[in-house]
Amino acid sequence: MTAGQIADLVERMLRTSGRRLDLSTPFVDALMPDGSRLHVVIPDITRRHLALNIRKFVLQAHSLDELVSLGTLTVHAARFLEAAVAAGLNVIVSGGTQAGKTTLLNCLCAAIPPRERVVSCEEVFELKLPLPDVVSMQTRQPNLEGTGEIPLRRLVKEALRMRPSRIIVGEVRQEECLDLLIALNSGLPGMCSIHANSAREAVIKLCTLPLLAGENIGHAFVVPTVASSVDLIVHTATDHLGQRRVREIVGLSGRVEGDVVETADIFTTREDRLVRAEGYPPHPERFTRLGLDLAAVLCPPGQEEPSRRAGH
Ligand SMILES: Nc1ncnc2c1ncn2[C@@H]1O[C@H](COP(=O)(O)OP(=O)(O)OP(=O)(O)O)[C@@H](O)[C@H]1O
Ligand SMILES: [Mg+2]
Repeated sequence: MTAGQIADLVERMLRTSGRRLDLSTPFVDALMPDGSRLHVVIPDITRRHLALNIRKFVLQAHSLDELVSLGTLTVHAARFLEAAVAAGLNVIVSGGTQAGKTTLLNCLCAAIPPRERVVSCEEVFELKLPLPDVVSMQTRQPNLEGTGEIPLRRLVKEALRMRPSRIIVGEVRQEECLDLLIALNSGLPGMCSIHANSAREAVIKLCTLPLLAGENIGHAFVVPTVASSVDLIVHTATDHLGQRRVREIVGLSGRVEGDVVETADIFTTREDRLVRAEGYPPHPERFTRLGLDLAAVLCPPGQEEPSRRAGH
């Protein structure tokens, strides 16, 4: 194909997305009608050619049970996460690029009780929340005059005015992390994803990204706020066979030791298997309030029923 034909093709592909490419907006990240993501960069940002990337959704799981059948996590871990989401714990999904963060976040959302009103904020629509009362919002690029941009921070702030019972942020990459923390800190349950190479690295990122907002925000505010507002980190990664798997589920006790947020392993990977570790999640009373027996959901290490070991 010639450069001109490719440019025409990209223009046609973008037509349905409401996004555009020109000298003032040389990057575009758009959702295609089939759910795949199109990313394009044009010269002179690239040296010579237009660079086009399509991230296809080969698989779309919609529930934790589907992830169990794919071998992404165990039944035991899935039952625990379902209970934690139903109990309103604040869950952060972490993982590397293409590790399956968005898919896992979507599946966790399927465990939100249907009576809840959910407001979601995303860079580009990706989540498909299978719930009756959902308001989904995505960011907007600036117009030709350079005005009208709606960044993620604004969406998170507006979401708080929309009477949500739960807030979902697709991914926090920058200072919107501060707005998310403020929302969670105000008592609104929420979930989001973050790019990190381990659950503990995700905690560190949650503590540093808000500093990007400037606004006189320092560690003294952020570290205890992360400790008290974030309850669980679910870390997913691709294993040596290329299979996406949940590797760790870590709980944040709410305490800070020195400058470090205290964490406890609830599930961990041993010999390539996701197994129960020693730790417990915070807020056991929230499980009890729902009539859930946390001790039974989280039976001690090594005492899982054989049926619960299925799904490895
Ligand atoms: N548990 C899974 N098992 C198999 N394939 C999966 C699983 N989760 C996601 N995928 C596939 O992996 C690809 C990446 O998934 P997803 O978009 O959820 O990852 P991500 O970490 O959010 O990616 P990005 O870094 O682009 O945001 C998609 O094609 C998706 O269909
Ligand atoms: Mg993603």
